[in-house]
Amino acid sequence: MRHFTHLKDLGPKGQAALIKLAAEYKRNEPGALLKGKVLGMLFFNPSLRTRTSFEVAMHKLGGMSVALEEGSGVWKLETEDGAVMSGDKAEHVREAAPVLSRYVDVLGVRAFSRGMGQADDDADGVINAFRRHAKVPMISLESAREHPCQGLADMLTVQESFGQTQGVKVVLSWAPHVRPLPKAVPNSVLLHAAAAGCDVTVVHPPGFELGEAVRAEAQKYAGESGGKIRYSNDQRAALEGAHVVYAKAWGPEPRASEDGIVASPALRGWMPTLKHFENATEEAIFLHCLPVRRNVEVSDEVLDSEFARVVDEAENRMWVQMAALAWLFGKA
Ligand code: CP
Repeated sequence: MRHFTHLKDLGPKGQAALIKLAAEYKRNEPGALLKGKVLGMLFFNPSLRTRTSFEVAMHKLGGMSVALEEGSGVWKLETEDGAVMSGDKAEHVREAAPVLSRYVDVLGVRAFSRGMGQADDDADGVINAFRRHAKVPMISLESAREHPCQGLADMLTVQESFGQTQGVKVVLSWAPHVRPLPKAVPNSVLLHAAAAGCDVTVVHPPGFELGEAVRAEAQKYAGESGGKIRYSNDQRAALEGAHVVYAKAWGPEPRASEDGIVASPALRGWMPTLKHFENATEEAIFLHCLPVRRNVEVSDEVLDSEFARVVDEAENRMWVQMAALAWLFGKA
């Protein structure tokens, strides 16, 4: 049985194949490949793009989907083995996952970081508990460690913009935010770009390093794909010659701001403006997974500029997910 909860389920070659398939589906929709199949989606966290793009993808493939929101009309779920369930969680994943598996043909779960540290994020306890107990293929709708469908959509967007991913200079640049954000998206940008053979620079203020396990996995993929990875604290130097500027907030803020808008004033200059594109390549593009907080994480002038491909990127979620669903069912 196939699952797609982390990039390691595909590896660099599998990713390349799914991006190619997604591009084919975008040119010519494949029709009712999954006629009669049902996707169940369980959301522990909110979503605009993921939920809608999966629902539409299943519809286009001839199937249907059911979306459940944990704690909102659905029992709150316990995922820890051996838990004494005397709190507000009324059902355990050990029952919920096999029961849902009797109703649906593929199960998606969104469960963000619990904010319990790097080791807990790397263990990805919630999605892995579902993966252990479900009896059907699992797909990630974003977990504590990764957002693999976002990573595929990002690489499809790079491929469309430059005709290839190999050697494309991707700069993943930390951005400010109003609150600490998890690392799943930046982890996936690094992993998927490395697996696609990109020349990746991750640039961030000191103290915002990505986790060691993810960095080691990315290095392995870069070795397989011919990609390159660098880490830097110098945003200006990193953006020199960039083809892709990917801004994303992650990690804890060092201290709260006085006006409550963004983090410490010293870090506000990390928010991309058009000035940040002065030394990028002429054909540079700007990516962000969305949702984005305008003028906190990214300036209006960038999001409204010709560099921005964020809407194309969001559309591509649907095409890569169609490819991933077809693959899970052995149709690709
Ligand atoms: N990028 C993304 O996953 O968007 P949503 O959180 O709206 O699903």
